[in-house]
Amino acid sequence: MKLAASLTLLAVAIFATTSANAQLAGSRPDTTPTTHPIPSIQDTETPAQKDARMAWFREARFGMFIHWGLYSIPAGEWHGKRTTHIGEWIMNDLSIPVADYKALAPKFNPTGFSAHDIVALAKSAGMKYIVITAKHHDGFAMFDSKADSFNIVAATPFHRDPLKELAEECRKQGVKLGFYYSQDQDWTAPGGAAYKTNDHQPPTFHWDKAQDGDYATYLRTKAIPQLKELLSNYGDYPVIIWFDTPTKDMTPELASEVVALLNKYPKLIWNNRLGGTYKGDTETPEQYIPAQGYPGRDWESCMTMNDTWGYKSFDTNFKSTETILRNLIDIASKGGNYLLNIGPDSHGIVPAPEVERLQQVGTWLKVNGEAIYGTTSTSFGPEAGAFSPTEVDKNGKPKFVSTWNWRSTTKANKIYLEVFNWPSAAFHLEKVTRKVTKAYLLADPTHKSLKLTQTSSTLDIQLPSKALDPIATVVVLETN
Ligand code: GLC
Repeated sequence: MKLAASLTLLAVAIFATTSANAQLAGSRPDTTPTTHPIPSIQDTETPAQKDARMAWFREARFGMFIHWGLYSIPAGEWHGKRTTHIGEWIMNDLSIPVADYKALAPKFNPTGFSAHDIVALAKSAGMKYIVITAKHHDGFAMFDSKADSFNIVAATPFHRDPLKELAEECRKQGVKLGFYYSQDQDWTAPGGAAYKTNDHQPPTFHWDKAQDGDYATYLRTKAIPQLKELLSNYGDYPVIIWFDTPTKDMTPELASEVVALLNKYPKLIWNNRLGGTYKGDTETPEQYIPAQGYPGRDWESCMTMNDTWGYKSFDTNFKSTETILRNLIDIASKGGNYLLNIGPDSHGIVPAPEVERLQQVGTWLKVNGEAIYGTTSTSFGPEAGAFSPTEVDKNGKPKFVSTWNWRSTTKANKIYLEVFNWPSAAFHLEKVTRKVTKAYLLADPTHKSLKLTQTSSTLDIQLPSKALDPIATVVVLETN
């Protein structure tokens, strides 16, 4: 009897985990608490303190990522050789010697750069915060750094600090500012980490002797001093530090030296890419939207508008405004943020296709923003799609097959339905757990009531024959 009992228990446990894993394949972050050499704010703060610190981020939902640097000069091509990979990786992909790459700095003079225009563009797009690459993997600092002279003020004819100008404009225009910092990879500093694309775990791979050196020394003499400059020279900014590509070099001990600095900024938000077992505040799915978000974790899906982060003159494979806007809605319906990238060129100009799409998204958000900002995830779920009983994804896990008819976001007394595929008959809802008192179209300035038929768990909404917006028309359900 005893054996049978324990076997059933075991079976239940396995089933529970596998189905949960299957159900959330690929999207459950490992939140097992880890003991850190130095506890981070995430290890010490109370849930209420966390909620207060993350409140603006959860309200914001939509931000601008800016990848801009020396790599915008070759723009994907070096001495006639084009790279098929993301533009900011050209030095690594083509194994460009350090001296040759550094020789780009005297040629970098982006006089077309206007912090006012870029912040105004983000604002007109409905974006609430900006994260710009302060230093990318190539090691070039896009700010005034006393810690290292390979920077835009000291090493270029431009002699201006774009981060300082952006910080001033963000303050003026009420947009928050964060900094991306490649803490681990640095292809021009001796000892900086480097590896070949998407092969994150090998020991550092250097292609030029000038890159050789001690990693801990690089961290202590360049990365940490520059993080200090970024955290203390721009007033109440940054609100976010966006780390990237952690490698084995970043041991828990070395990472804790960075954390000791971050802990001095208790409001700061930083992502899950520092390394050294520190999980940070946010999951950062890149170039994809997780099937069902990350329940219980803050997350931010970062995405390019074409196929590159850094500017490439010949990459014209831009997503449509429809795709971008439905991505934003899909991400919000799963409780996440959308960090959408722009890649200014070497003059500091934002490519026209990116400006156009952002302005079109902004036009929609001006009318429908209340269905995105400050909302929480859907109270339904099956509308996003389902795991295929037969197909598997590249990790061998059940493949999630998205459906794109509608999404939903939630507020205390409102449920929003973002309808993509306008139904010819009444819009039917199952598992409606709240009493709906009124329904109307958000884009209808009169908020004329729509006819409703509600039972204990279903709701039918009589919609007008035509959608008000072909990309997404929002139906508001007032509830009590
Ligand atoms: C990857 C790329 C990096 C890019 C980042 C954006 O880590 O290596 O170039 O900045 O994604 O998420």
